[in-house]
Amino acid sequence: MIHVDPYEKKFIIASTILLVVFAVAIAISAFSYGIQLPAPEQRVDPNVITTPGVSAFADPVDERLRELGPGRYEVYILAQTWAFLPNEIRIPAGSTITFYVTSRDVVHGFQIERTNINMMVIPGQVSRLTATFDEPGTYNYICNEYCGTGHHIMYGRLIVEP
Ligand code: CUA
Repeated sequence: MIHVDPYEKKFIIASTILLVVFAVAIAISAFSYGIQLPAPEQRVDPNVITTPGVSAFADPVDERLRELGPGRYEVYILAQTWAFLPNEIRIPAGSTITFYVTSRDVVHGFQIERTNINMMVIPGQVSRLTATFDEPGTYNYICNEYCGTGHHIMYGRLIVEP
């Protein structure tokens, strides 16, 4: 048995308790806020992503929001300097929508205010997150990764209609 100074022992016990408290705090906040990790959905070649027929990101902008069933949608958003395409999405309240987002140039961010949607948008990779919108209103989505001189004007609007 190694000798541990009583004073040091108290610190070891106190730090162990703190680690447990932190781990529990993370677990509670993760589950209560429904934290989800952006899934790297698929790889795409950013050089040909807007070539018709290659990917859903090449479809006309107003056809990138798709209704999969009652109250279920998916949308393909292409990020580029300095815009999201589409930059306006309309869905009825209570809908669940899955966002597929990729970039055709540099790294961008995709964050929707008042939701837990927040992901990096990386050229060559499609990121996916899903959210349900019960409250009608306008939810701005913004780029939260600095991407050049027009970074601050890069945003779009998700409009949840009553
Ligand atoms: Cu795109 Cu900042």
